[in-house]
Parts: sequence; structure tokens; C-alpha cells
Amino acid sequence: MGFMLAAAGSAVGLGNIWKFPYMAGQMGGSVFVLTYLVCMFVIGLPILVTEWLIGRRGQKNPIHTMEDVAKAEGRSANWRWVGIIGVLGSFLILSFYSVIGGWATDYIFLAGKGTFLGMNGEGTNRIFSEFLGSVNHLLIWHTVFMFATAVIVAMGVSGGLERSCKIMMPGLGLLLIGLVVYAAVVSGPAFGQAFSFLFTPNWSALTGEAVLAALGHAFFSLSLGMGIMMAYGSYLGKDVNLISTARTVVILDVIVAILSGLAIFPLVFANGLQPGKGAGLIFVTLPIAFGNMTGGTILGVLFFIFLTFAALTSSISLLEPTVELLEEKTPLGRKSATLLSSVVIWALGVACVLSFNEWQNVTLFGKNIFDLLDYFTSKLMLPLTGLGTIIFAGWMMNQETIRRELNLSPALFAGWKFLCRIVIPIAVIFILIYGFMD
Ligand code: TRP
Repeated sequence: MGFMLAAAGSAVGLGNIWKFPYMAGQMGGSVFVLTYLVCMFVIGLPILVTEWLIGRRGQKNPIHTMEDVAKAEGRSANWRWVGIIGVLGSFLILSFYSVIGGWATDYIFLAGKGTFLGMNGEGTNRIFSEFLGSVNHLLIWHTVFMFATAVIVAMGVSGGLERSCKIMMPGLGLLLIGLVVYAAVVSGPAFGQAFSFLFTPNWSALTGEAVLAALGHAFFSLSLGMGIMMAYGSYLGKDVNLISTARTVVILDVIVAILSGLAIFPLVFANGLQPGKGAGLIFVTLPIAFGNMTGGTILGVLFFIFLTFAALTSSISLLEPTVELLEEKTPLGRKSATLLSSVVIWALGVACVLSFNEWQNVTLFGKNIFDLLDYFTSKLMLPLTGLGTIIFAGWMMNQETIRRELNLSPALFAGWKFLCRIVIPIAVIFILIYGFMD
């Protein structure tokens, strides 16, 4: 139970509620959504199982786990690079994750002050642009969020956090369901429009970019490719059924993402907003709902509190690998290791904050700093390390031991092997190459 909470806590976060809807909006909707669903179950789930399986064997941090398991299987210790790139990636992701976590935190107060009362899309848009333009504002909340993450990690992941998760997560789920119902009631025909935008296949929007984004997002959303799930695997008992546990985590994660989409897009269409608006999408749509429903102020405050918590349970999982590594590799203790890594990540986050205003025009390959960080991690590093993990498990490890560990019949395991050895590697390589050419 504790393990499920930790794994689901890491997986369910800003990726589901903030990132999934805005990416779906930018990539033309249904084709992205359907590809994402396929990637979650066909590619994400087996890699999740594989990370846990390797982590349970290795019982250490991701780098040493990869090294030890590789040696035990008679393979090169260089497989540790899968772990190294993973730690580097989690570090980079946290720098922009904390900035967005800061947005969510600030919106608790904006909602509480009644800022959105009676507002339409134009109003919420204006509030959000003013917010993005204010460096100090963004900086303060990014700092607060990063500080909270660091304090929790420095204290060691505490029982208190776990307990509050048990309330916050179901609360978030209930509120999301409520918002979907609200959106369906008030937006009339726009709900149907949103539904078909998300689910009726629109093959003309099928581009290499959309497929690559969907794959990258499946990795991001399940916290894969960064050794995080591998690290969690070291806490798993031998008796835990990896496949059914993974299935539960994937289904939960998908449900939260889809509910967010169903809450947001009817409001987008009913208020004449642009689905492809980008990173601000949830911050301009949901406040319209909170500003116009009875009890909206309280519900808005609650929603952004839950969102901040969901973000925190993910951000601590992003900080943990770097801290663990510094603790083991340097004379630093847990507290100083946390301090050092947080300060460096925070500083990178500042660059990310500036990319929304002062440094908007500082670009490389036509992307600003925020886009660049997101692109390199979600679309390149996560799929690459995921590919490394699955090739390692499919081709380098003893297959009979894996079969017994997964408790699969020989026939089912043949299917599993085919998936891990052939289908997933080819799909990921193909998508990576295609992404480069696009
Ligand atoms: N999965 C989290 C989300 O959806 C983000 C996250 C936490 C993550 N840990 C990660 C992403 C590790 C990639 C790798 O918000």
C-alpha cells in the first residue's frame, strides 16, 4: 500500500493535469491522445515493470543498481550510463517543474482572494499574462516550491507526507470529477465538441512530432527513464505482483489525465479560447469555472492546494536521485547534499522563469530555455534511457529468471519477450529518428 502510494504519487502530478491537456491542445487533440494511450499501455507499462524488476534486484541507487545487475548478468558495467543519464535528466526536469509548481501554489492565493469572480476567458487570460510578465512574482513562488521540496527531501520522505497524500489524492480525483460534470452542464454543445476533439480520430493531425510528443509524455507521466521507479523498486517485496501493480498505476495515471482534459476542453470551446494556447492552458480555463460557479472560491482554493500537493509528491521524487547520488559519492551528508542540489536546480529554474518574460527572445534551435529543457528531457533523454532499460532487460538479462519473477506462463512470456525485445525497441528507435528529422 505504501509503495503504491509512493509510485502513484510520483506518477500523478503536473504531467497529468497541466501538461497533458496543453500538449493535447497543441498537437491537435485526438491523435495525440490516442497515441498517448497506446504508448502508456504498450510501451510505458512494460518499462515500468522492467524498472521495478531491475530495482528490486539491485537494491541501490539507479546508477549502482544498473552497474551491479549488469555485472551479475556478466555484462559491461557501462550499463551504468542508463542510470547516469537518468539522474541528470531528473535534475533538469525538476528545474522547470518547480517553476510550474510555483504557478500552482500562487493560484491558491489568487483563487482565495476572489480574483476570478465573474471572469470570462479574456479576464483570466489577462491575469495569466500579467502573472507571466512579473519576474518577481514567478521567482518568489518558484523559490517557495523548491524550498518546500528541499525541506521534505532533507527530512527524509516523512510519514506525514504519506498520510496527507491519502487525503489529497482522492480529494483531487473527486474535485476533477466534479469539474467534468460542471463543464458538461454549463458548456452545453461545447462538451460534445471537446469530446470529439479529444477522442474522434483526426488522422490529418498525425505527424511525427505528435507521435514523439505522445511517447515522451507517456515516459514523463509514468516517471520513467530517470531511474526513479528503479529506485522505488528497491523497496518492493519479493511477493509483489509487478504486472498487476503496474497496471493499477498506469490506469490511475491515465484516468487523471483524461479527466483533466474533459474538465478543461469544454471550457476552452465554450469560451472561445485557443486549444493550442500552450503552457498556460489550465491557468486560463479552470479559473473561469471557479469564478462563475457557486462556492467557486473555496473549490478553486482546494483545487490548487491539491494540485500543489500532487506536484510536490512528484518533485520530491525528482530531487531524490541527485541527493542520493551526492550522499553516496561525496562526503556530504543528506542535508548538505539536498541544499547543494536544490540551489543548483533553483538557479536553472531562474533561467526558466526568465524565459517567460525578459529572456523570451533568448533562443537556441528556435526554442526558449523552458522549451529547450522540456524538449531535451521529455523527447530525447527519457525515451533514450527507457530504450536502454528495455534492451538491457530484453537482451542482457537471463530470461528464465525474469519469467519466474513475473510469474508468467511460457506462452504469455513469449509475448512479453517479443514486446520487450522487438516491438518496444523498434518503436522507440523509429520514433526518435523520426523526431530528429521532423
Ligand atoms: N510523473 C510526474 C508527473 O506526471 C513527473 C515526474 C516525477 C517525472 N518524477 C519523474 C517525470 C521522473 C519523469 C521522470 O507530473
